[in-house]
Amino acid sequence: MLDVRDLRLAFGGVQAVGGLSFRVDAGEIVSIIGPNGAGKTSAFNCVTGFYKPTGGRIVLDGTDITGRRPSAIAARGLSRTFQNLRVFGELSVLDNVRAGTHLWLRQRMFDVLLHTPRYRRSEQEATDEAHKWLDFAGLRGDRTGLVRHLPYGEQRRVEIARALARRPALLLLDEPAAGLNHGEKAELLDLIRRIRELGIAVALIEHDMGLVMEISDRVVVLDHGKEIADGTPAEVRADPAVIEAYLGRDAAPEETEEVRGARSD
Ligand SMILES: Nc1ncnc2c1ncn2[C@@H]1O[C@H](COP(=O)(O)OP(=O)(O)OP(=O)(O)O)[C@@H](O)[C@H]1O
Ligand SMILES: [Mg+2]
Repeated sequence: MLDVRDLRLAFGGVQAVGGLSFRVDAGEIVSIIGPNGAGKTSAFNCVTGFYKPTGGRIVLDGTDITGRRPSAIAARGLSRTFQNLRVFGELSVLDNVRAGTHLWLRQRMFDVLLHTPRYRRSEQEATDEAHKWLDFAGLRGDRTGLVRHLPYGEQRRVEIARALARRPALLLLDEPAAGLNHGEKAELLDLIRRIRELGIAVALIEHDMGLVMEISDRVVVLDHGKEIADGTPAEVRADPAVIEAYLGRDAAPEETEEVRGARSD
């Protein structure tokens, strides 16, 4: 599905990504972990076209997408959420998700300007699709209010619903659990699993080791812009290089109390 080979990105003298290679196969959940500043978000930004890599190749479903524009990459089936939540605060919950449908909704200028029956049908289709993804993301409250009035955890789910409304084959999530409470993390875990059941591959950057170890088919560990380990959660957890570079410095690899507690609720 996604094949990243020897990816490089430099900001002036800072080598944010320094020869990173990893892949995500169809239907897989792959977590990308590593200490702060390891280059995780920078790598996502290259894959999604927000940054132009200074070296390497990114192949999505057999097509070289290296250096292409974000819109062109999104149109090829790659959708994302952001480390710093990006929703349209001044739009309604429903319209935030409807915005995702415009990637595939074909509307001709003629129909839009004249409000033809074809235009009204396509608008209805967008609305129905948005409601479907809001249901899927477990957002049951009022959908006509402004998204910024929702609690933070629900805004994050609106962002995921919007990414899903783009009908991706691969979804990239940048720290989706950050700022969520125990119950919300358990719901997120369930949501990511259900996304995979739809046949959508998921790559997630995440610091919550409980969530990562619980959900991932594979874990890629980054340090200083390069992968230092790639394997199942059990393999990565036992890898001395990982313990040295990351887990020793930061979170413990064991399942956190939070996820365990939330799951048994
Ligand atoms: N736009 C930018 N301009 C200059 N340097 C940047 C930029 N974005 C990231 N960097 C630098 O690149 C390196 C990698 O940053 P990146 O945000 O990719 O790390 P990360 O692994 O996502 O970290 P975190 O876990 O804190 O989100 C860091 O040294 C960072 O300071
Ligand atoms: Mg980051």
